[in-house]
Amino acid sequence: MNRRNFIRSATLGVGGVSLCAAGGLSEFAQALAASTAVDPFWRPFLVPPVEEGTRDGNQVQFDLNIASGVSNFIGDLSTPTIGINGAYLGPVLRAKRGDSVSFSVKNNLAEKTTLHWHGFVLPARMDGGPHQVISPGETWTPQFDIIQPGATYWYHSHTHELTGSQVYHGLAGLFIVDDDVNLNSGLPIDYGVDDIPVIIQDRKFKQNGAFQYLGSMMDQMQGMKGDTILVNGVVTPALKAKRPLIRLRLLNGSNARIYDLAFHDRRPFVVVASDGGFLSRPEKIQTLRLAPGERAEILIDMSNGADAILVNMPENPRRSSNAMMGNMMGMMGNTNKPFSIMKIEAPKSAERITFKGPPVYEFTSDWANAAPANKRRFQLEMAMGPQMMMSRMSGGSPFSINGDAMDMDVINLRVKSNTYEVWEIGNNSMLPHPFHIHNTQFKIVARSHRTVTAAETGLKDTVLVYPQEKVRLLIPFLNYSDPDRPYMYHCHILEHEDGGMMGQFTVEA
Ligand code: C2O
Ligand code: CU
Ligand code: CU
Repeated sequence: MNRRNFIRSATLGVGGVSLCAAGGLSEFAQALAASTAVDPFWRPFLVPPVEEGTRDGNQVQFDLNIASGVSNFIGDLSTPTIGINGAYLGPVLRAKRGDSVSFSVKNNLAEKTTLHWHGFVLPARMDGGPHQVISPGETWTPQFDIIQPGATYWYHSHTHELTGSQVYHGLAGLFIVDDDVNLNSGLPIDYGVDDIPVIIQDRKFKQNGAFQYLGSMMDQMQGMKGDTILVNGVVTPALKAKRPLIRLRLLNGSNARIYDLAFHDRRPFVVVASDGGFLSRPEKIQTLRLAPGERAEILIDMSNGADAILVNMPENPRRSSNAMMGNMMGMMGNTNKPFSIMKIEAPKSAERITFKGPPVYEFTSDWANAAPANKRRFQLEMAMGPQMMMSRMSGGSPFSINGDAMDMDVINLRVKSNTYEVWEIGNNSMLPHPFHIHNTQFKIVARSHRTVTAAETGLKDTVLVYPQEKVRLLIPFLNYSDPDRPYMYHCHILEHEDGGMMGQFTVEA
């Protein structure tokens, strides 16, 4: 077992979770009733096809075809989409830690694209960022070794100034990595049966069925939000659970929307994993915040026979510590209403759950003793309102980091390989920004104004930075170096990323 991935088992059980529905239900029910999607039409849940590639020992080859297609989400309307080996989204790729994976990625679109492996530690030229362009008709053949823990990663377009549009139309998919810890954990592991991929996205439709991508200045400023929720490309689906204990692998694959996930009956659930693997402190919770790019794995107890509706239950802005912020966002039309996302129908037979608890990730002494080679400060900045108009008219970008907007020809910083660094991310703007760093899984050391939540206690590659807050990260850059080819760090609200809230760094020997 790798010393950087030392695992013990938690004593946290889920038996008995189901019966302690909390108070506050009527307030919640009222809020839900006020939402538009109270009584949705439940469609069959779609389990995305899993793609395990062609295996020869630990060499695995995947063939991916990016192409435009036509999908049907609502009524009999046709929606032009982009997919990988299909019309919308891609297959769930699956490989194991220790595998050497290679891909042939063919671009059948009429525009350039890229395919980025989000959350992976890998050589810069394999990263699939904006420099690894795949022109129309071309094929890109990256290869890398999977050297990190089993977890729920993902892949998506990362095309310069086109990421938002391409991902919105479907250019994304999940990438599940298995390892022995995960396989021997006793967690639900039957794909599509009790181990369920859940890609949450919000979309807006035009009358003719096409996706509405960008229309107002608000879409650009706040990021593109929709009014219809898709789960794995299906509007409000219902999953028929066949087992009493269900594991959801959640990905917020939305361009801009932040979700506060909860169940309609306020049943608690256990959060066991985040972006890069199991948590240091898994916990029973009732609400999970998930920002664009983030993943979480949760366990739900369905043994009481009652269906569970997964809803977005935004924190009440008047009650939040950030009341002024909430009010301002409300004024700008960003009222984040409660709505349904999907339903889980309870299994008919009442099996007992026998499960002792999830594995727990322990940061080793390597992390504790790491003498950071560098401490850097980042300030996420965003001009709003009249300022935004001004910066646009003068040809500048309203989105920047440390005053600089993304420039393909500028490497913003150089990191020494085989070191740890401390990055402190600040946010001068009025919106929260999910900050993502390529080629690493980091530890959230501290937040200036909030506590680090249970779901943030494992390895992370994306962290939500609230307005006026500072978040301190301890970041390992232990593998790979390339003096010329950069990795990216950026806001994962894709319109902010495309708008310039992104920078480039190299890792050098
Ligand atoms: Cu998920 Cu730089 O991206
Ligand atoms: Cu990434
Ligand atoms: Cu942002």
